[in-house]
Amino acid sequence: KLCALARACSSPRLVSNISNTNVNIKGSAIETEYKIEEATLEWSAQAPPSKPNPFHLDLSPKDCPVSSYNEWDPLKEVIVGRVEGACVPEFTIEVKANSYEKNWPFFKEYGGKPFPKEFMKKGKEEIEEFCRVLTAEGVTVRRPEILDFSEVYKTPDFSSRGLYAAMPRDYLLVVGNQLIEAPMAWRSRYMEHRAYRPLIKEYFLKGAKWCAGPKPLLSNELYDYDYPIQNVAQRHELAFEGKFVTTEFEPTFDAADFIRCGRDIFAQRSQVTNYFGIEWMRRQLGSDYNLHILTFKDPNPMHIDATFNTIAPGIVLANPDRPCGQIELFKKAGWKVVHPPKPVISDSHPLWLSSKWLSMNVLMLSPTRVVVEKDEIPIQKMFESLGIECIKVNIRHANSFGGGFHCWTTDVRREGTLQSYL
Ligand code: ARG
Repeated sequence: KLCALARACSSPRLVSNISNTNVNIKGSAIETEYKIEEATLEWSAQAPPSKPNPFHLDLSPKDCPVSSYNEWDPLKEVIVGRVEGACVPEFTIEVKANSYEKNWPFFKEYGGKPFPKEFMKKGKEEIEEFCRVLTAEGVTVRRPEILDFSEVYKTPDFSSRGLYAAMPRDYLLVVGNQLIEAPMAWRSRYMEHRAYRPLIKEYFLKGAKWCAGPKPLLSNELYDYDYPIQNVAQRHELAFEGKFVTTEFEPTFDAADFIRCGRDIFAQRSQVTNYFGIEWMRRQLGSDYNLHILTFKDPNPMHIDATFNTIAPGIVLANPDRPCGQIELFKKAGWKVVHPPKPVISDSHPLWLSSKWLSMNVLMLSPTRVVVEKDEIPIQKMFESLGIECIKVNIRHANSFGGGFHCWTTDVRREGTLQSYL
């Protein structure tokens, strides 16, 4: 009876039709006396008026603000990450498995705290300069939110602090008109979406497709707590045998373990991307795409873009220290396989979350223009010999956070359409 009355009262027009209705509240007891059957019938016969869905957009895919099919077509809009709010990850098993022994004392000392002041300050200035250069090149630059990643969060399975919104490449994958949020394997990256959601919602409202990998639990079952990670030789061996710190408990991947080359997309099983996650991606992308799994001789596979990158139709940049098991695929298709020269960054410059090969982690502005590190003269010469013009920018302190130009960005829109290049 109370329900019927409540329903009746939710319609003001109806309330005036109710006759002889008294509601008495005495203490906690509610006494009702009513006669609303007729009114209820009339109410339930009324269908709500049809209103246009304010979110509906009739948009041709070519007008979508999100559109990027490969790593080289002329760049129009890009998200550039942020230093602000960054927090050194706590020294958990997944961080240990992905970092070199010489950096372990750093994580033990700084874990859960901001990165050292000088790097926060200089890294921020460098990235701002990088944004200015991109803008001057005619590229629209977008930035994630500023958040405090040192805040602790807790789920029923774990608790952690955050990391940063410095590397949009790790989090967001754009394939055509679709934005794909990665279900990342690091506990410190579980809340990273919060920095990108305003941008993602905006792109969705303007017509992009939007999906996110299945939200992972990141419970203990995802990690191999016995994973032996004492030295580089041992890591080589483990990676070769296909053993990683993450298990196949649930799908996980980082967006940066995928390289887009039109209808062909390349992925690697890494410390953060498991086969379960790669299979999720394959089905999500559907029959328009061929997803290939590549393997490399890499002691520390995490993020493919300092190992392998397709930088123009017919040119693949392949790390000479990390041979690719499937390179014949490219050679047979007539591609040029280019091995970049050794990086020149000094041993004393800290790289807490990567190797020195960030030198090849470049951002293509078009097939003939590349953003490359100012000090890395040998790789600049290599690009020039390929007819690729270098735009030189210095982000050495920003490198220390774990990425080069490719990691620090996610391209949202490039010219061009879906094509087959292999
Ligand atoms: N694991 C790579 C290396 O050390 C670093 C790749 C960084 N890429 C990225 N998208 N965060 O060579």
